[in-house]
Amino acid sequence: MYFGLGALLDTAVSLSTSTVRPRGGGHLHATTACRAPPAGASAPTPFGTQAVRAARDAASYAPVRPGGGEGVVMTVLHDSGLTRAFDRAAGAYDPLTALNPGYHRHLRRAAERMLTGDQRARGGDGMRVLDLGCGTGASTAALLGVAPKARIVAADASAGMLERAAAKAWQGDVAFVRAPAEGLEEAGVCGPFDAVFAAYLVRNLSEPDVVLRDLRRMLSPGGRLAVHEYTLSGAAVHRAVWSAVCRGVIVPLGSLGPGGGRLYRHLWRSVLAFDTAGAFARRLRSAGFESVRCAAVRGWQRGIVHTFYATAPAASREDTAQEAGSSGQP
Ligand SMILES: C[S@@+](CC[C@H](N)C(=O)[O-])C[C@H]1O[C@@H](n2cnc3c(N)ncnc32)[C@H](O)[C@@H]1O
Repeated sequence: MYFGLGALLDTAVSLSTSTVRPRGGGHLHATTACRAPPAGASAPTPFGTQAVRAARDAASYAPVRPGGGEGVVMTVLHDSGLTRAFDRAAGAYDPLTALNPGYHRHLRRAAERMLTGDQRARGGDGMRVLDLGCGTGASTAALLGVAPKARIVAADASAGMLERAAAKAWQGDVAFVRAPAEGLEEAGVCGPFDAVFAAYLVRNLSEPDVVLRDLRRMLSPGGRLAVHEYTLSGAAVHRAVWSAVCRGVIVPLGSLGPGGGRLYRHLWRSVLAFDTAGAFARRLRSAGFESVRCAAVRGWQRGIVHTFYATAPAASREDTAQEAGSSGQP
């Protein structure tokens, strides 16, 4: 199904080497797996362990009932079904986001505010940052814009999206890795990270609480998480604006590209079905994050897109054992 770098990705993963060397500028430093999988573990696959893959396939197209009283069951894509949709639509992703006013500016602002003043002043020197759900690299570029000296690991489940990202010319220390958020360590993506950026990812996850707790554990004590996401304010007007923009612009435009409108109908529906901003802030606290803050963006996305900043507590690593078996529901 994949070709070019996509095929290379598959091969790389099957050889237990999950780092992608871009063919673009040749400036990337390949980051090797930070830790070998535990002895006896099955070899990494494109979706991590066999168990993770089986769970993902089973949940690839899941019905959800969005809050807000539509009175209908909508479907959103998950896991392997979602990854396939991103693979197919990857070629149109950059042109479509270029038409979205504020998209790149908001990403850059979110990345900038994730860093402390000192980290910004040093251009991220000495930092190790994870860009989870990096897609075609828009969030990676935002990170590099504010932290050009950081070492960035950019991970995504979609070979098609990664292929686009890795083909770009990058200045700096960036390694693209094919890895699902639910199986980072199996794919060789290990902490500690000084910061984790997740832009437009978390709403897509089947088990966001599990992934958030994993990310908290992968952060250094005091490390920062920034989640930039479509999260409605809860006000009826913002929900109505979102549906109007999707119905009138996003879905029709997305339907013109490869993969049809499937991914963009998913975008519409998944936002309606996901947490409001307040609920997501509570979810972060339940996952053990501290100092949770929520910032609104300007433009048509006001009340529709928010950035959440949160800190891993100093005790995060010690919590791990105590948490085994907890449901993690907010
Ligand atoms: C909407 S794109 C955002 C890309 C980029 N962060 C940006 O800001 O433009 C979401 C990305 O998350 C990836 N993704 C979705 N679910 C994932 C998962 N469970 N694990 C890893 N990546 C996932 C998709 O493949 C896609 O590339």
